Amino acid sequence: MTIRAGILGTGSALPSRVLTNADLEQMVDTNDEWIVTRTGIKERRIAAPDEATSDFAVPASERAMAMAGVRAEEIDLILVATVTPDTMFPSTACVVQDRIGATHAAAFDLSAACSGYLYGLSVASAFVATGQYRYVLVIAADVLSRIVDYTDRSTAVLFGDGAGAAVVGPVEGDRGLLAFDLGADGSGGKFLHMPAGGSRMPASYASIDAHMHYLKMEGQETFKFAVKAMASSTEKVLERAGLSREEIDVLVPHQANIRIIEAARKRFGLDEDKVVLTIHKYGNSSASSIAIALDEAIRSGRAEPGHVVVLVGFGAGLTWGAAAVRL
Ligand code: ACO
Repeated sequence: MTIRAGILGTGSALPSRVLTNADLEQMVDTNDEWIVTRTGIKERRIAAPDEATSDFAVPASERAMAMAGVRAEEIDLILVATVTPDTMFPSTACVVQDRIGATHAAAFDLSAACSGYLYGLSVASAFVATGQYRYVLVIAADVLSRIVDYTDRSTAVLFGDGAGAAVVGPVEGDRGLLAFDLGADGSGGKFLHMPAGGSRMPASYASIDAHMHYLKMEGQETFKFAVKAMASSTEKVLERAGLSREEIDVLVPHQANIRIIEAARKRFGLDEDKVVLTIHKYGNSSASSIAIALDEAIRSGRAEPGHVVVLVGFGAGLTWGAAAVRL
């Protein structure tokens, strides 16, 4: 018999430093009006120089475990979805495992950029469903500011840092993670990537001088892909879960651009109050964006037990994904 997995608790953590549009006006040739109308972002959170991805992953995890009522020693597996790990190795999941005291947990990182939380939830759900693991800690965390080129105005204004986490474990009744849709199109990898720092182009004076250790993005190509991916992935996940659009209580989209979110909302005919937005205050915090928005929706009472929540996102890879969950 298959065990149904659900989200037992969520948590999030953000840097305290705020980078406003006015701050960015001092750094690159941009202005508040352009940023707000083109993206919906007013400010974002940026890690301090001595803060790394695990410094946000750890408190987010502790909050998720507290909400779930699950102790660190009970966690069987830790997944960290990130493209900005503390170090290339060991994995950030191993760093978290040690720091939270999850002494019985296996641990690994997962790379799916902004779709990472959805990929992580799907992997966790499958492990719980087979009975291999009971409690899986899924963490989505990025300190993207480390790979943002603050001389490039087209990307400098978009991104922020943060972490979100969920404890996934067995549930009863009709609640739980009902369906997933995951996808990838590697042919679009060139639209959003970091050229150097891997085995293709290891660090050298030349790679640093050429700004190759920074994120590069074709904004318009990514935009077109995002609108299509958000819509088709939401449709697929609803179909797999046997749900209609009208049954969505809360939509938690990846927070990349207000115009992408609005296009998806209109396509699904959802009321504005059903869509969770954090983009104005956190920008695009990569893998963590959906995880943070879901945590805030649950803690504020906007997403309640019994609600049908659809999570949907897209990211570098290119990757995309959606999950339908009854809380
Ligand atoms: N301030 C002022 N002007 C700017 C800025 C800025 N920060 N950035 C670009 N411009 C200028 C451009 O130079 C251009 O000027 P020009 O017409 O004189 O050439 C003009 O504004 C329009 O630029 P576009 O790139 O056409 O602007 P667009 O409306 O496409 O908005 C944006 C750009 C916001 C990047 C948009 O394309 C977008 O959101 N794309 C999706 C990005 C995304 O979702 N990325 C995250 C993926 S998730 C992950 O895995 C990390």
